[in-house]
Amino acid sequence: MIVGGEPMRPLRPAAEGDALWVIDQRALPHRLQWQRLATPAAVDRAIREMWVRGAPLIGAVAAYGLALQMRLEPSDAALEATAAMLRRARPTAVNLAWALDRLRARLQASRPSHRAALAWAEAGAIAEDDVAANAAIGRHGLPLLQAIAARRPGPVRVLTHCNAGWLATVDWGTATAPLYLAHAAGLPLQVWVDETRPRNQGASLTAWELAQAGLPHTLIADNAGGHLMQRGQVDLVIVGCDRVTARGDVCNKIGTYLKALAAHDCGVPFYVAMPLSTLDLGVRDGLAEIPIEERSGRELTHVGGRNAQGEVVEVQIAPDGTPAANPAFDVTPARLVSGLITEHGLVAADEASLASLAARAARADR
Ligand code: MRU
Repeated sequence: MIVGGEPMRPLRPAAEGDALWVIDQRALPHRLQWQRLATPAAVDRAIREMWVRGAPLIGAVAAYGLALQMRLEPSDAALEATAAMLRRARPTAVNLAWALDRLRARLQASRPSHRAALAWAEAGAIAEDDVAANAAIGRHGLPLLQAIAARRPGPVRVLTHCNAGWLATVDWGTATAPLYLAHAAGLPLQVWVDETRPRNQGASLTAWELAQAGLPHTLIADNAGGHLMQRGQVDLVIVGCDRVTARGDVCNKIGTYLKALAAHDCGVPFYVAMPLSTLDLGVRDGLAEIPIEERSGRELTHVGGRNAQGEVVEVQIAPDGTPAANPAFDVTPARLVSGLITEHGLVAADEASLASLAARAARADR
């Protein structure tokens, strides 16, 4: 996407093939700051500490981490140990394991002396495939917005949660791709941006992205979504996802489930933008089978921001020693999902539709 007139992605492979530059998302929206990652350990840290985040992006970044390992030491043992380390960096989004497995399969079939170049090229292919998938999600999601615009005057009012924008992917975003296309086509939009406590990815990242694109948006407290839906002020919800199961359960940022419940109660369509890299046919029951990342309670007891002097500071908002629990994701059961917007088109969130989607995608890959 474009920032200050420049095309930008959240990652930039160094031309020499010896490092990956990434936007440090902890610094946004106050500073656009790049970090150079030159070792697998640096990549592991950047994913764990959420310098980079968002399911598709952590998959692509992890692939580059494994490629950097192949430059340093391309043995079978190093390949397996580094892949295992990176896979553990964050447990919930399946894209991490998906990207590492795709790269491992290519590398295991090749001689160690060829692996450095092959791995760098394949990491690049994973990144480019993500861009193409998200652009296709945009094209398939656009008619949903156009249909609403055709039914009623005024802007189409879309609610989104967390950041499933270009910062969470290699480009376009998933949930935002239809919005960016609609905006470019001149369709009037109004996006409700959930702040997304506790890390505030909506307030700090989605609001920043939409502002860069000149796309009209309004930040709301996480708890405001249900109220706006009851008052008929939301036409459609579109969110991203971190893992979708074989039967269509959707795991996404904590709070997504509550939005889906409210949408169901209010008759508001609830769509999930899902690239195939986020579909995990190895699990069925999202609640029972998807590991939910538990993050530090400090993300709740403290909050960061810019003060009047322009300094970025962290302040404590809970009493000293308050115990805090911080599950980072939740599972929305398939029955609450109106449909999945994929790179192959709109798909129902049910077992038969997802099996047929996977079969179709496998045929297209051959
Ligand atoms: O903890 P995060 O910021 O990595 O969580 C991100 C989300 O939950 C996104 O909505 C999801 O990864 C989809 S990104 C296209």
